[in-house]
Amino acid sequence: MSLAGKHIIVGLSGGIAAYKTLSLIRLLVKNGASVKTVTTPNTLHFVTKLSLQTLSKNNVYNDVFSEVNDFSTEHISLADWADAMIVAPATANTIGKFANGIADDALSTTFLALNKPVFVAPAMNSKMYENPAVQKNLQTLIQRGIHMIEPPVGELACGDEGKGRMEEPEAIFECIAGFFLTESDSGKSFPRRRESPNDKGLTKGGNDGTDGQVDPAPTSSFHEKKILITAGPTHEAIDPVRFIGNHSSGLMGICIADEFANQGADVVLVCGPSAIASKNSAVKRIDVVSAKDMFEVCKKHFESADITVCSAAVADYAPKQIAGQKIKKKDENLVLELVKNPDILGYLGKQKTKKQILVGFALETENELQNAENKLKSKHLDMLVLNSLNDDGAGFGHQTNKISVLFANKEAKHFELKSKPNVAKDIVNEITHLYSVRAT
Ligand code: CTP
Repeated sequence: MSLAGKHIIVGLSGGIAAYKTLSLIRLLVKNGASVKTVTTPNTLHFVTKLSLQTLSKNNVYNDVFSEVNDFSTEHISLADWADAMIVAPATANTIGKFANGIADDALSTTFLALNKPVFVAPAMNSKMYENPAVQKNLQTLIQRGIHMIEPPVGELACGDEGKGRMEEPEAIFECIAGFFLTESDSGKSFPRRRESPNDKGLTKGGNDGTDGQVDPAPTSSFHEKKILITAGPTHEAIDPVRFIGNHSSGLMGICIADEFANQGADVVLVCGPSAIASKNSAVKRIDVVSAKDMFEVCKKHFESADITVCSAAVADYAPKQIAGQKIKKKDENLVLELVKNPDILGYLGKQKTKKQILVGFALETENELQNAENKLKSKHLDMLVLNSLNDDGAGFGHQTNKISVLFANKEAKHFELKSKPNVAKDIVNEITHLYSVRAT
């Protein structure tokens, strides 16, 4: 993917994952981007200035009060020069500064001065990542339109297992390249600043102090069409404090809902427990917990839906009985009896009329295409999105996804690894084709 002509600031804060950012800089430069690096003072404990200079082919900006610059205010001229910024690794400290407008080093001053798209790839111990203060700061940034590159689950530098490890350089590169690809395809920036009567014409955005919401397109093929989407995991209660769940973050379905709403559709998103906010405030989001709750809400909205996309990772089984009190530890073994949950997609497939379009998802670990074909047929689907756990960067806990799309009446299509917002665009695009054929 060419990034020729793009100016990208790579910001590094002081974490061990900074070594991976050297590969990211190489990838960006190799693909034609001009790169300038900005660091905090602590970054240089982990990587050297010489490595950053050599790989980026530019000076490193790391000192706000340096005497050697050319009398320009460096963080301002850098911000003017850039088309986008990626901050990787972003430590809890740097994320806290970004969220709260603190500017006390080269990186945080550059961030504050920038009104261009910003990508943030957090990196820290999972306990720090899960801390409510860090989560709140991340949510603040997401709501302001920052592109968050969520850490995958895996082994951390301290030896712990969990969520907090910085995403791999290749996946971060895909997010940035995918962003510019979409921008050039559609001729618009994403996310865009909402126009207010006082700031007409200011449409470039990202880190601009707004809520990062995306303007719905004025007219489109989905104007006034009703779309029902399921997303996220479901949690099946065992007792008042425990549940059976899965690793789905809900991001893929939330991106699909945003994309439909951006195109003017009337979207109902039925979402299991997820910390990710919808970007488009036009999405009518109904938060649910269990598969049974999700099923009830879907039954209510399905009949009036023109298109339904079931992307939720619904738990197939739930405990037969939910204990009224916390189960105390007693014997060596504990046996839970589970009963089958309703198959929401299967049920909707049986109800659907010829006019309605029904799309399912499948996450497979073996015999992917064959299992997906079977699901497409047995659940009476018009389209099925397959992601395989065997593909790097695809599926749960990643900012990126790699999909194949299978249809009831035509050849399957295979797509490259892309950021989830861009995968959502591909999915909506395929549904647009199906829908336009159905409508004629
Ligand atoms: N699905 C659903 N309700 C369920 C289970 C799955 O609506 N109780 C939907 C998912 O949202 C997805 C599709 O069915 O769109 C396939 O989900 P998946 O878990 O891959 O398949 P299952 O039908 O559960 O079959 P299996 O787990 O045996 O592969």
